Amino acid sequence: SQKTYILAIESSCDDTAAAVLQNDKVLSNVVANQAIHQEYGGVVPELASRAHQQNIVPVVTAALRKANIDKKQLSAIAFTSGPGLLGSLLVGTSFAKSFAMGLDIPLLDINHMKAHILAHFIDEEGYDKPSFPFIGVTISGGHTQIVRVDDYFEMEVIGETIDDAVGEAFDKSAKIMDLPYPGGPLIDKYAQLGDPKAFPFTKPKVDGLNFSFSGLKTQIMYFVQRQQEANPDFLKEHRDDVCASIQYTIVNILMDKIKKAVKETGITQIAIGGGVSANSGIRTALKKAETTHGWKTFLPKFQYTTDNAAMIGIVGYLKYKDLVEKDSFQNLEVSAQSRLKI
Ligand code: KG4
Ligand code: ZN
Repeated sequence: SQKTYILAIESSCDDTAAAVLQNDKVLSNVVANQAIHQEYGGVVPELASRAHQQNIVPVVTAALRKANIDKKQLSAIAFTSGPGLLGSLLVGTSFAKSFAMGLDIPLLDINHMKAHILAHFIDEEGYDKPSFPFIGVTISGGHTQIVRVDDYFEMEVIGETIDDAVGEAFDKSAKIMDLPYPGGPLIDKYAQLGDPKAFPFTKPKVDGLNFSFSGLKTQIMYFVQRQQEANPDFLKEHRDDVCASIQYTIVNILMDKIKKAVKETGITQIAIGGGVSANSGIRTALKKAETTHGWKTFLPKFQYTTDNAAMIGIVGYLKYKDLVEKDSFQNLEVSAQSRLKI
């Protein structure tokens, strides 16, 4: 069959990433993380955009080299057009545009949120892909969405956060506990040593399938302050129990809404993505739901679940195939959109 080679570029937040796909298989997947933000306890947009400018050429070059592909073999270039930080998106967008123009090949603009969902269609040995319809759950430092997915390009956001993303809830809680950024993985690590019911936190009341995490963060902040006034060594003595309690609460909030989504849609296939899907608490809860509720859950490889370009590449491939089938390549006029909706 026809071989399609897609070069994909992702630069929506703080990772500069490039990947090469041969049809739905990943030949290379390169990510340059920006360590610079660690000192600031969060992503600084101006610094992110400057780091993208420094990283983009080496990252793309490495992706092509690792794929053992000459740029002349490329069928199309796919890039993230949004949502994300505008200054960061622009670096990837202008690079992709000029690269495609130089090679005289099609340029495909890709929605980052759809890509998190469609990452499940990357062809991987031993990975079972979801079938339609399924519920996509994207949980990361930047996103918290529940999406009803009826086809590759037919999806609808049925729930999302009204304030902080779930990864932010982990990271901000970690900051309150003086843990380094990003604190999510550390909370997870210590949570496994503690008692999840040691300190009960209340879950926010939010309508429908939406989420809110800013109240939880405030609750944790006051809780820790109060405890420290009584015992300055509180965090030293109770770190693991506090982490376990925070994680238990966040996982319950997520699971409540996922259960509600299943109830409302009748769909029992759940495909999760985003950095927070690495969390051991959410993984255990989902696995348990497979036996107790008869769900089927899908967790892709970690490198396809955090921000990466392979997920942009798979959407690029699916789009390209669609355009070829419909014989409808126009000169696609594309630009960066920081608030792009699914
Ligand atoms: O997908 P990602 O790499 O980038 C964004 O799009 O944000 O997600 C990063 C987020 C951070 O908030 C990080 O703390 C969180 O994912 N994270 C975790 C875990 N691993 C990463 N949160 C909880 N438990 C983990 N094991
Ligand atoms: Zn993302």
